[in-house]
Amino acid sequence: MTEPLYHDEDRPRLAAMGPVKVRVPAKINLHLGVGPARVDGFHELATIYHAIAIFDEITARPADALALTMDGEGAGELALDDSNLVIKAVKALAAETGREPHARLHLRKQIPLASGLAGGSADAAAALVACDALWGTGFSREELAHVGARLGSDVPFLVLGGTALGTSRGEAVSPVLAPGHAWYWVVAIADSGLSTPEVYGELDRLRGVGAAPPSVGTPDEILAALRQRDPGVLAKALGNDLEAAALSLRHGIRATLDAGVAAGALAGLVSGSGPTCVFLARDAAHATSVAGALVDRDVCRAVRTAHGPVPGARLI
Ligand code: C5P
Repeated sequence: MTEPLYHDEDRPRLAAMGPVKVRVPAKINLHLGVGPARVDGFHELATIYHAIAIFDEITARPADALALTMDGEGAGELALDDSNLVIKAVKALAAETGREPHARLHLRKQIPLASGLAGGSADAAAALVACDALWGTGFSREELAHVGARLGSDVPFLVLGGTALGTSRGEAVSPVLAPGHAWYWVVAIADSGLSTPEVYGELDRLRGVGAAPPSVGTPDEILAALRQRDPGVLAKALGNDLEAAALSLRHGIRATLDAGVAAGALAGLVSGSGPTCVFLARDAAHATSVAGALVDRDVCRAVRTAHGPVPGARLI
């Protein structure tokens, strides 16, 4: 068995800390290669996940029932019942460990809903890490990722964080090197979200029935670009097979992509299934300047800057 997230000798310290607080990042995809639809309805992927510094936070307290409250992005809009990925995650971990799913959770959201930034998967990953600590389950990161894979394709990556290769339907993750090097991003958040299944469906439609099945291989170009640590090189290697489908469903994304490049970004692409657009900058100061120019162009609801990679769901 691999290392648990904390050791027995830490438990009294953790318990004395009172509520457990976990911070989890958003993800973008630096490369998203989409292969054919499988018999289970998912598409075969080869993707490079990258965790960026836009965070949700979950606070977990002991309780004798399961309760979830939230504030921030999507409050009043996101259901807090059994359909919520946080509730699903708590129940999945409880079932795995043979205990009652009892916890009082509060979700503080900054990652917008249905935005291609994997906010729901991030919250599931945070709930797993939080309840593991609250209940003293002692699961390793790999074990939590394994439970998370049943909840959503991006959950194992959000447990891990950093920059990672995702294969199969995205749930099989392995870290890629380039630690210690920061990349600087500008994130353009749209007025409303896009449905991930609809974007995958649109890609299938655009590719056409009877067309040669697309194949996905290891994304060597982007892996080499990451190793070079040169934003100009990385800019040329970014790519997302879902972008055409997201653009087809939401024509306005084109104006946002064009505005980011006109604002001076090295490159722009749709994050995951969209509609969020991310732009690569040379450094932190350049990101601030691109973000300012993008705000002036008024092509999206909000503009943020964020560096990456950052760790996955972690106790704070
Ligand atoms: O795994 P997750 O719940 O995030 O997936 C949401 C939806 O996105 C799936 O139901 C499926 O329609 C689509 N999807 C896909 N292929 C993947 C990942 C997601 O078709 N590899």
